[in-house]
Amino acid sequence: MRGRTQAPFFLLDAGDALFSAPALSSRELPQGRATARAVAESYAIMGYDAVGVGPYDLAAGVDFLLSLPRLPWVSANLVRADGTPVFPLLRVIERKGVRIAVIGLTGKARLEKKYRLRPWEEALKEAVAAAGKKGCDLIVLLSSMKERDWLALSRRFPKIRVVIESAAHGANIPPVIHGRLLKCGVQSRGKSIARLDLGGDLSAPWQPDLSRKKERLLRRLDSLNWRLNRLTRSRRKVSPEYLENLKLQKEKTEKELAAVNQALANKAARGRFRTRFTAIEPETDDDPAVLKAVEKGKREILAIKKRLEKDRKRRQVELKKIFKAGYTGWSGCGRCHEKQAASWRSTRHAYAYNTLMSKQAEADLRCLPCHVTGVTSGKETYALFLPGRMRAVGCEACHGPGQRHTADPAGAPMDAAAAKNACGRCHVPEHDDDFDLNRDVAVLDCTGSGR
Ligand code: HEC
Ligand code: HEC
Ligand code: HEC
Ligand code: HEC
Repeated sequence: MRGRTQAPFFLLDAGDALFSAPALSSRELPQGRATARAVAESYAIMGYDAVGVGPYDLAAGVDFLLSLPRLPWVSANLVRADGTPVFPLLRVIERKGVRIAVIGLTGKARLEKKYRLRPWEEALKEAVAAAGKKGCDLIVLLSSMKERDWLALSRRFPKIRVVIESAAHGANIPPVIHGRLLKCGVQSRGKSIARLDLGGDLSAPWQPDLSRKKERLLRRLDSLNWRLNRLTRSRRKVSPEYLENLKLQKEKTEKELAAVNQALANKAARGRFRTRFTAIEPETDDDPAVLKAVEKGKREILAIKKRLEKDRKRRQVELKKIFKAGYTGWSGCGRCHEKQAASWRSTRHAYAYNTLMSKQAEADLRCLPCHVTGVTSGKETYALFLPGRMRAVGCEACHGPGQRHTADPAGAPMDAAAAKNACGRCHVPEHDDDFDLNRDVAVLDCTGSGR
């Protein structure tokens, strides 16, 4: 992306990139740290210009963050007990004659005793004043604070023109104007990247780039005119309501177009912006150095699993948990439901764990819940100790725990139809953007007479 643009280009992240939650249990921490280190190494290689410090970056503490490869962190409000800042309040970056100041604000986080968050208004005031002294063309705020009154913030700090929110929310949000402020946010944790193009007068009020909207309106008007023409000339009877409705749509479109034309003709100074979101797939990242960092992270996670497996006591504890969860594994079901077992073996569900192995991800607690049986969240660390008969998307991943049914089929019956409700947990748009329940249930071929 950097290579494809003539304009000065800045690579920023609002934070919350390192961990999957703001706090992890002691069991989750070793894996979490390994993943965080791999992410930090990748970021260092990609050459970020500034990265905000969010609560999700602090899950293993400030000291851990300081032990990672140095990223260009910014936080104006994260301070030591004595009030001295831990990271720079702001970073001033100059490229191709354009100078921007990037300020960070950290959201509420769990911190070691020797650190604290000072009031953000006070921190921001200081950082904005410092940026003012450096003569910047633009002040950008990277924030992981939960919901704020951005309009009020814009009134108090009119010099801040762009805020990038670290997103604990799921979706990409198009930029929104609050007073003099343009607020943007990208889907959480490295799922996509946003390109925000800025132009025009960066000190003037924002206005979206309307040229594409104008094209769209012109096309709609064209199509409405064509339909109206055809209907009025047709000898067939046309419902008057339909005709009236088309005319109303035409009027509305013309009004919208007039407003757009007026805005475009307005020669008053305006800051202009446009956004494009691109999904990130790990495989599409072809920078060999980044791939190497990711591989290293994976190896570290596998090594943690190996160490765990040698821990006999821990193993006993985890196996008990698996039993208590009430699962038995697919081979138990296959004894009586041969036909289903046969058709199941012909689907990829039976090899979902092997798929993870091929990606060296079989110890990754983020992946396991959808590629094995009996695990529904990344918090269930017994996922690392599953017996072979649960290392697949087995019968019970859809039909639910079957220990009791296996022991007493008539006494603890199963409701086959309920299994249809299970698909949605794993076939989420992010991992399967083309899921169709009726079509895909047929692929499973679970129904049939052989029992
Ligand atoms: C010992 C033999 C046996 C085992 C083991 C067994 N089942 Fe069954 N299963 C049956 C019988 C018999 C029925 C029919 C019970 C009835 O209709 O009352 C049944 C019914 C079902 C049904 C409902 C079928 C329908 O038509 O509604 C499902 C679903 C099911 N089993 C799934 C499983 C799963 C999953 C496992 C493994 C966890 C499993 N069974 C293990 C014997 C078994
Ligand atoms: C526990 C998570 C999970 C559940 C629940 C689940 N799936 Fe899947 N499904 C997967 C995974 C993972 C794959 C891909 C496996 C692979 O390629 O390694 C998959 C693959 C598939 C495929 C492709 C099969 C093939 O052989 O090409 C179909 C079809 C499918 N699922 C349908 C369903 C339907 C329908 C349901 C609900 C009745 C369902 N799945 C429930 C995780 C799940
Ligand atoms: C929320 C559930 C979910 C999680 C979490 C998940 N997967 Fe999957 N995965 C699926 C489903 C569903 C499919 C099947 C998609 C399809 O058939 O198109 C799948 C398919 C795959 C495939 C084979 C299809 C392909 O795209 O080549 C691979 C490889 C894979 N997953 C790897 C991973 C890895 C690695 C992780 C962890 C970083 C992971 N998955 C986490 C649900 C999940
Ligand atoms: C990916 C999800 C999924 C998996 C895995 C799965 N099933 Fe099913 N199964 C279903 C669904 C959904 C239905 C109901 C289909 C319907 O009602 O059209 C069903 C139906 C059944 C039935 C009732 C059949 C009938 O004639 O009505 C039995 C028995 C059964 N499954 C057993 C199993 C066994 C045993 C396994 C493992 C070898 C298994 N299933 C694996 C989703 C699954």
